[in-house]
Amino acid sequence: MLTRRALLQLAAAAVPGLLVGCGAGFDPDAVPESITRFPRTPMSGDVTSTRAVLTFHVADDTPVVLRVWTGEEVVLDSAIEPNGDGFHKVMVDDLVPGTEYHYAVFSGKPRRFEERSLIGRFRTWPSEDTREPVSIALLACVGQGTILPDYYYPEGMPVPTTEPIQWEVFTHAREHDLDAIVHLGDQAYLDYVWELQDGTVEAYLNAWGAFHGGGYRDVYPLAPLYATWDDHEATDNSDFDPWDTTPEIDAKVANAQEAWYRVMPIDAMTPSEAPVWRSFRFGGTVELVLLDCRYELQEDHLMSTAQLDFLLDRIESSPCRFVCVATPRPFANITSDPALAADNQDRWEAYTADRGRVTALLDALDARHVVFVAGDLHMNYLGRVSLEGDAPSQDAWEVCVTSGNVNPLAGGLSREQFELVDTRPHLPILTFDPDAGTIHVAFYARDGSLTFERTLDDV
Ligand SMILES: [Fe+2]
Repeated sequence: MLTRRALLQLAAAAVPGLLVGCGAGFDPDAVPESITRFPRTPMSGDVTSTRAVLTFHVADDTPVVLRVWTGEEVVLDSAIEPNGDGFHKVMVDDLVPGTEYHYAVFSGKPRRFEERSLIGRFRTWPSEDTREPVSIALLACVGQGTILPDYYYPEGMPVPTTEPIQWEVFTHAREHDLDAIVHLGDQAYLDYVWELQDGTVEAYLNAWGAFHGGGYRDVYPLAPLYATWDDHEATDNSDFDPWDTTPEIDAKVANAQEAWYRVMPIDAMTPSEAPVWRSFRFGGTVELVLLDCRYELQEDHLMSTAQLDFLLDRIESSPCRFVCVATPRPFANITSDPALAADNQDRWEAYTADRGRVTALLDALDARHVVFVAGDLHMNYLGRVSLEGDAPSQDAWEVCVTSGNVNPLAGGLSREQFELVDTRPHLPILTFDPDAGTIHVAFYARDGSLTFERTLDDV
């Protein structure tokens, strides 16, 4: 892990005479993009008020320069050396709170860049005494609006994946001013890497290219990513139970997780360094709590005690106006629909002890500022977490997103509990307004049109 100071020293050592802070005249668009050298989108993520994590892939594993700049100046040139596979992650520190930055990877020397990657942007968060509106886009379960997901098909299958996968719904993301992107899991469907390629790290890294070289290029450059995962980043959850595995399964899971930590801009190099569950404060406006509902699963618990304690602590202690709990699996009770209940028993409602600890705290605190966002179910909805009751633990709002995969059972949801239910791919955007005390929820359809909006004013 490198500090900005170390990176600057590294860059200066590698590029004699390099001037940092000479942004005047730098025109990144004048450098042609190379999709051959940089086929995948670079990503920023886990951005705080002073720190950002950047990941990128250099397909030919040649030396490159990672540049970060503002409208006024270049703030970082980092010389990146070949490392064997071209996957890189760089932590950048000492950034200025509340500032917009741009980043890209370049071949050639800083004074004569030859080719570049896509150009991304992120904004560092203001200090916690600043309360500004914050807009967050939700992603989960990419697909084409069909029941069957967008699997990556390795060579040897009847129709192998040879081209990057595209999704229309993300092509309209640029029409919005986004502060953050939250991915709730099933960011890629890698089941056949598990099944047919022995689930090796190399195979997982390679397969991510079908997704990060595809439709994610339309959305990840727009804002920092805060990602959690679900099952298909490794394989379908029906392939194993986390509490009952074999050494072979453990090895494949470890490989999938290692690959995920390498390609994702999560603020850790390996799973052992930091868990997927973590939280971020977007100024004083909203604290985003990201959960791992998959790999800490036990037979009778949705997650480890440590993770559940962490969630409760963040709900109770957060100084922010709102708390947004990103739970890949829905917190809402959906038992009103028997078919759905039978289809997916591994939601919060199946773990009554764990869920009960959360609901007890919400009610004890009279916490109405907590909103849940979820994926996994392959449907979009806005609703209350319970069909009946007006206690905070029953009345809380939940937004569920599918970016593409469709669950034909969605029609069974109670329209009394869920005022919007729509299976078609959508891009939901939540705007947290601390002064108004509201959360605006908007769902944008595949063609970019607004399907539904509602301002939540009881939060
Ligand atoms: Fe999914």
